[in-house]
Amino acid sequence: MESKNKNSRRDFLKIGGSAAIGLPAMQLIGCNNQVTALEKKELSQNDSIRKFPDNFIWGTATAAYQVEGAVNEDGRGVSIWDTYSKIPGKIKNNDTGDVACDMYHRYKEDVQLMKSIHAGAYRFSVSWPRVFSNATGTPNPKGLDFYNRLIDELLANGITPYATLYHWDLPQILQDKYGGWQSKETSKAFAEYAAYVTEKISDRVKHYFTLNEFYSFTDLSYGLGQLAPGLKLPQKAVAQVRHNAVLAHGMGLQAMRQVTKSTLEIGVAENIVTAVPIIETQENIEAAKKATRELNAGLLTVMMEGKYTDNYLNSLGPDAPDFTEEELKLIAEPLDFVGINVYLANKYVLAANNETGYELISHAKNHPTMASPWHLVSPECLYWAPRLVKELWNPKEIYITENGCGATDELSDEGQIMDTDRVMFIKNYLTQLHRATNEGIPVKGYFHWSLMDNFEWIFGYGIRFGLFYMDYKTLERTPKLSPEYFKTIARDNILV
Ligand code: NOJ
Repeated sequence: MESKNKNSRRDFLKIGGSAAIGLPAMQLIGCNNQVTALEKKELSQNDSIRKFPDNFIWGTATAAYQVEGAVNEDGRGVSIWDTYSKIPGKIKNNDTGDVACDMYHRYKEDVQLMKSIHAGAYRFSVSWPRVFSNATGTPNPKGLDFYNRLIDELLANGITPYATLYHWDLPQILQDKYGGWQSKETSKAFAEYAAYVTEKISDRVKHYFTLNEFYSFTDLSYGLGQLAPGLKLPQKAVAQVRHNAVLAHGMGLQAMRQVTKSTLEIGVAENIVTAVPIIETQENIEAAKKATRELNAGLLTVMMEGKYTDNYLNSLGPDAPDFTEEELKLIAEPLDFVGINVYLANKYVLAANNETGYELISHAKNHPTMASPWHLVSPECLYWAPRLVKELWNPKEIYITENGCGATDELSDEGQIMDTDRVMFIKNYLTQLHRATNEGIPVKGYFHWSLMDNFEWIFGYGIRFGLFYMDYKTLERTPKLSPEYFKTIARDNILV
């Protein structure tokens, strides 16, 4: 889609404040930094009520394959997403991440976008095949250099880097050689790669997520065949894939801690399956806790508890994965924090007089969704997910490593993108997050997905998750309305 905006991107960035998003002056009343004395008084009365904890981290997030492009540059190897996206019909419009947002070359501009919205942190992922063209063995220094440049640029602009080491772009060679996550060889290879990257960047990067969204790159990728490599394996193989993935997390964590003397904070970024009490009575809350523990049994629960629940193993029967006690210990290496990607209440739940103590309730047929068909609107999940994590496992810190929504985001004739749906979404979800922090649930930060529109996996470029609009022809970035809202919150640490 052609940008009809007459102002160039550079003009937007130069202008500062509300004018940065090119909105007519009338619409800016209340968004502007200059408030009247009366407005100031009202704001200060409400401030203490809606304030987030001191030093709360406001950041944005992206992932390598979704934004970087430059897939054939500087010795990058092939990932399973390069392969999968080239199979006709797998991705909407047969889109690929070949160019994506071209962040590989435009990262300096993108750091300025972050700065312009007062984002104090940036969660990016390192592309494994960029750093090791052949997954293991001889590293590719040119690949790592990109991350060195990015990290330096972030730090020079006062933005704290948070690195995710695996966001689904598995080196193709591991898929070919071992069947990817079907083999513990891949878990070992991950640990080697994770340790190498940590050794090289931990002088500047202090926060890490081992792997992102286990359910997505295990069940959805090897069981349901929806994501790369697009396999539909039987239950036993999928259970093994899950086990090998959490094993990679444990092995990686241990290897990362061994190679650096500096103090690092390491956790996961998991799309927790959240069971939300549809009616918030004490007994339904207890039911939600039990359900959430079981629904995550093969992934987050085993990482937190070091054992598979009886229900999980019984329900798998002969299809249970092969594992040892030694591995379980590794998998439950203590974390510095738990990161959760939270988009929806996956299930609603009620207490029940049955063996499990809960009953899962499906969403009603007319339950509203955002633009992605899977995205059931359920702001209260941003309260319940961290609360249940705290009550179940009591971690020191919790991060919301992703939250956001997709939209169509069309440019108006004036070149504006008034994404009122996204502003509504953020407001309602953050109200629930605020409820959590207000109750003392130790949520340390929030990363909005995403900084800018990008390659949304099988949905290609057809759905937009960014605060900044991407013109995929010119690669021009244009602020929508939502970054103005994000900026106001991040700047003052207050929910408006
Ligand atoms: C989760 C994934 O981590 C991310 O890659 C994806 O784009 C967002 N959710 C939105 O679907």
